[in-house]
Order: sequence, then C-alpha cells, then structure tokens
Amino acid sequence: MQKIIVTGGTGYIGSHVVVDLITKGYQPIIIDNLSNSERSVLEGIKKITDKDVEFADIDLCDREATLSFFEQHRDSIGVIHFAALKSVGESVEKPLKYYRNNLDSLINILQGMESYNIPNLIFSSSCTVYGEPDALPVTELSAIKPATSPYGHTKQMGEEIIMNFLKSNSNVKAISLRYFNPIGAHDSAYIGELPTGVPSNLMPYITQTAIGKRECLSVFGDDYKTHDGTALRDYIHVCDLADAHTMALEKIIGDSNSKNYDTYNLGVGTGYSVLDVIKSFERSTDQKLNYKIAPRRAGDVSAIYADNTKATKEL
Ligand SMILES: NC(=O)c1ccc[n+]([C@@H]2O[C@H](COP(=O)([O-])OP(=O)(O)OC[C@H]3O[C@@H](n4cnc5c(N)ncnc54)[C@H](O)[C@@H]3O)[C@@H](O)[C@H]2O)c1
Repeated sequence: MQKIIVTGGTGYIGSHVVVDLITKGYQPIIIDNLSNSERSVLEGIKKITDKDVEFADIDLCDREATLSFFEQHRDSIGVIHFAALKSVGESVEKPLKYYRNNLDSLINILQGMESYNIPNLIFSSSCTVYGEPDALPVTELSAIKPATSPYGHTKQMGEEIIMNFLKSNSNVKAISLRYFNPIGAHDSAYIGELPTGVPSNLMPYITQTAIGKRECLSVFGDDYKTHDGTALRDYIHVCDLADAHTMALEKIIGDSNSKNYDTYNLGVGTGYSVLDVIKSFERSTDQKLNYKIAPRRAGDVSAIYADNTKATKEL
C-alpha cells in the first residue's frame, strides 16, 4: 500500500482527505500538533473507514522532530501539506505568528522531502493568492495581486518557495490547489468542521450560533459592491475538495508527462453572499438565526469565485 504523509490531517479538510485516501487504497500517515483540531478526530476516521491511522503529534516548526519523522517515513510516495494557521482576521493582528508557523513548517517539510527523496507534494493554497481580483471568475492565469492579509501572503510565498525548491530538485513534482470556501462535512457526520475556539469561517459560526453556543453571528460589512452588500464567496463541498486531492495526487504520481509544477482552482464557479448563505440555512432548517451587521473585517476581499475549467478538464 502506498504511504502518503498528511500534515494537518486531523484538521477539517485534512481529515476528509484522509478518509478519501483510505477509501481509495492509500495508507495516510498524519502529522499534526493539534493546535486547531482534536485527537478524537482519529476515532471519527476509524468509525468511517474501520482503519486505525498512524498519527504523530509534532509541531512542523520543530525542525529536528519533523526531519526525524520524515526519516522514519522515507518510503512515503508523497506529502499532502494542509497544516497551517488560516484565520485571515487573526493574521492581520498577529502577522509574525502566521509567517513563522506557515513558512517555517513548509520549509521543514521541503527539507524533509529533499533529505529523504520523497518525490510528490500537494500544497493547500487558497484563492487569497489572487488578492482583490480585477475580474471574475478568476482563472489560474489571473494576476497574483498584492495579498490583502498576512495569511494570504503566506500562501503566495508558499507557492513561490515551492517553485524555487523544484528548480533545484528536478526529481520532485508539486501541485498547488487553490481552494475557495470549503463547507459541509462527511455524510456520516463523524468528522466535520470542528475548530477549537471561536470559528473564523462562516459555516461553523452559523451552526454554533444556531445551537446557542455563540450568541450572535457578525456579518462583516454590508457595503461591498455585491447584490446585497455582503461579501461574495464560492462554497465547495469538502468531500468534493477531498476527492480532488486524490485526483491531483494520482495525476502527479501516475502521469509521467505531467508538469513538475501546476496550480488548480478548486471551487464550484458560483458566488453566494454571506446573507445568501444565512437565508439558505434558515430556509433549510426552518430556524431564525441571530445575526447582526458589523463593520468590514480587515483582510477580506469583496467578491471572489472560481473558473474551475482547468480542474474539471485535467483532474
Ligand atoms: N478552510 C478554508 O476555508 C480554507 C480555504 C483555503 C485554504 N485553506 C487551507 O487549507 C489547509 C487546511 O485548512 P483547514 O480548514 O482544514 O484548517 P484546520 O485548522 O482545520 O486544519 C489545519 C490543521 O493543521 C494543524 N497545524 C497548524 N499548524 C501546525 C504546525 N505548525 N504543526 C503541525 N500541525 C499544525 C492544526 O492543528 C489543524 O489540525 C490550510 O493550509 C488552510 O490555509 C483552508
């Protein structure tokens, strides 16, 4: 069975990809420091797949521990790198925390791949690399505009670091997947979006408000140039996103003619506003949600959705 190292594998997207990998016959090995996830996710994965997944509680910013893990798993055929801090707003307040965590971890992983000849990388990038786009939808060829937050900048820099790394490691291939807004959960509900602390993403904030765990949902800004003034995003189901990771992995492993570096947008190609999502939730659950309009949040762009033609055709 082919071994794949999955960093951030107890997190929201990582756990769904781990399930997808197991279902498709791979052996994922998780490395995560549980800074935004819980060990109990492993039980959820086991309930769905009936498999125990090997797990290492390691901070990827710890160079020695990371390299020793890579040495131990040098027979892996690839790395899927999810581990990162991801709150746009928090990154504006604490930029150094974001640069240190998201870049140190990536550098240590690349060092591990170089030292132990692990040949394939899938990198969690984001539509934030496009900054505030000039035109919608964005394609992979849309301009990389100045990042609107330190978080977005770490994704732009991450992609550049990988491209530079590949120039001196011609045996390695990489794909950056630029996610739009993942939502939803595995059908079983044994895994889902379970951030520790206050959620920074819309959907868990909505559900936590609905069950009374949060008092009120703040809608950040109602003066954007969108149909109802609230920010517009492209929401993709997390299981579709997970599926795309395995497809991307199969492309770089299985297709000897594939490029040594490529990027793909992963979105559905339609934009919905924050109020669209709230109203849809209220309709579906027949429940009123307590929300208020708040000032814009630093780092947010007004509207973005994907042109997903390339991923649809090639993955
Ligand atoms: N969820 C989104 O809306 C979204 C959108 C675009 C891109 N992304 C990217 O996708 C990836 C996964 O996002 P997610 O939503 O699953 O986030 P998440 O917070 O649920 O998962 C990330 C995991 O990485 C772990 N982690 C963070 N820093 C670490 C470190 N230094 N060492 C070891 N583990 C560490 C956390 O504990 C967590 O389990 C991230 O790179 C994120 O930037 C997410």
